[in-house]
Amino acid sequence: SCRAVIFDLDGVLTDTAIYHFYAWKALADELGINFTEHDNEQLKGVDRLGSLRWILQKGGLTLSEAEEARLMQQKNAHYLELIDHITPDNLYPGVTALFTQLKRHGIKIGLASASKNAAFVVERLGIAAQFDYIADANQVLNSKPDPEVFLLAAKGLAVAPQYCIGVEDALAGIEAINRAGMKAIGIGDAKVLSGAIRVYPAVKAITLEELLSV
Ligand code: BG6
Ligand code: MG
Repeated sequence: SCRAVIFDLDGVLTDTAIYHFYAWKALADELGINFTEHDNEQLKGVDRLGSLRWILQKGGLTLSEAEEARLMQQKNAHYLELIDHITPDNLYPGVTALFTQLKRHGIKIGLASASKNAAFVVERLGIAAQFDYIADANQVLNSKPDPEVFLLAAKGLAVAPQYCIGVEDALAGIEAINRAGMKAIGIGDAKVLSGAIRVYPAVKAITLEELLSV
């Protein structure tokens, strides 16, 4: 049975995944590294340093920690510019309705995000108060696919992992959910998100009945 649903943020609850991609792509272009949307599937859900290092490795570059820090700062400044306009309108359709249904059934709502900007984004989306617990990249040492952020969310919700469902748009995230001993629901393409019990094209396709039957 399901006692908590733990959501990823970027690409699940809102459209920010594409802005992370744009900002990484701009940085890669500047470094002369070819970074494609296909490559980006590997980076969804991966934290800032891990993502930068993946891109640098693709380009055969090794940089000092100071240079890495500068590039991460540059990418983040660009990302923050790209999401500067976000409002509750950027919440994906169906999120509020699903949250309402979960609450009505006493199912807790958690967030497990690899982003250090998660608190800012949920605030701007107007949903911060809806979460029973928020776990993000500021509180964990190991990025998805490590299960740490999902396990922290479950602990914060006081629900054992086997009673949690995780919802993710990233391959690394699905792996993290499975390694946490939770049930994984994918948002996106079933061919990409193998490892998920079910895959839906968007959050709005998830019904409470389906969650309860997982
Ligand atoms: C994840 C995104 O949620 O957060 C990644 O899927 C992103 O694309 C990662 O790189 C880190 O985000 P931030 O905001 O800490 O740079
Ligand atoms: Mg995501």
